[in-house]
Amino acid sequence: TTRTFSSSARMAAAIKNVTVIGSGLMGAGIAQVAAQTGHTVTMVDIDKAAVDKAEKRIAASIQRVAKKKFSGDEGEATKFISEAIGRLNTSTDAVASVGSADLVVEAIVENIGVKQKLFKELDQAAPEHTIFASNTSSLPIGKIAEVTDRKDRFGGLHFFNPVPVMKLLEVVRIPETSQDTYEAMCVWGKNMGKVTVECKDTPGFIVNRLLVPYMFESVRMLERGDASARDIDVAMKLGAGYPMGPFELMDYVGLDTGKFIIDGWAKEYPENPLYQPSELLNKMVAEGKLGVKSGEGFYTYKK
Ligand code: 3HC
Repeated sequence: TTRTFSSSARMAAAIKNVTVIGSGLMGAGIAQVAAQTGHTVTMVDIDKAAVDKAEKRIAASIQRVAKKKFSGDEGEATKFISEAIGRLNTSTDAVASVGSADLVVEAIVENIGVKQKLFKELDQAAPEHTIFASNTSSLPIGKIAEVTDRKDRFGGLHFFNPVPVMKLLEVVRIPETSQDTYEAMCVWGKNMGKVTVECKDTPGFIVNRLLVPYMFESVRMLERGDASARDIDVAMKLGAGYPMGPFELMDYVGLDTGKFIIDGWAKEYPENPLYQPSELLNKMVAEGKLGVKSGEGFYTYKK
């Protein structure tokens, strides 16, 4: 009976319908994993072309997941893929897509005004019980939640790229996040196959708070001429066991993303030496050298 469940467990059990707003690298990854783990998903973007591109990316990624998960068993792999794809719907209308959502995960452009406008609209359209979450990597969750009347049902759900592979989910609480909401987000994370960690609403949460200054320290090391990018990468991979060196990782994440995060923090905390922008990185971004996605960053890539 329902009496044997705590209300948070009931809330978590109730997360069946997930709406993901934004179909970029992160949004598509979140939608994919949610569909793979049995949720009914609506992936939303304002641009139909972006949705189409995301569907292609998901189709390719899910092949890799299925191949690994069902090594050799083609029948099972095909079934897994078609069932997951069958649970994934798309839309270009955010407001219309939250009517039956139990959870909304936002992964749109990192702009506070745009995010606030979106959540304000969704707050009117979504059912009472719906939990709202942002996948922002650099903006305060509290500031986004501020425009809604459901701060107790609001939190951060921060995933890592590539979402289908990276095991971590940072679950961010603002002071108003209720215990039920927090627990429901954690249970949902586990159902997504992730390991959750609890974070406060501080810049960079846990991972980026350490990773971003480390990346910028690497660029400063390169700018001083202390070592080459390749040698720094080899050193951190073989000497510290990181899967990618800092320059490979910056190319992978996108130099524009790194610049965006540090610029925001530098503005907010000008006195913190760990948050200082880099001239070299600014120059590379201005030249369109954004990493893997543009074909060139610290390394060059075949398009
Ligand atoms: N979809 C599905 N599967 C994928 C995938 C994708 N997009 N990318 C990789 N894989 C799978 C592959 O199929 C492969 O499976 P296998 O072991 O069965 O062959 C496995 O992952 C390993 O992939 P590769 O052999 O191609 O390459 P690597 O062994 O080098 O692994 C990597 C790739 C998982 C990306 C690894 O290099 C890594 O962990 N790098 C660090 C990534 C990282 O730090 N991410 C966090 C960035 S910060 C962030 O996202 C926060 C944001 O806010 C900025």
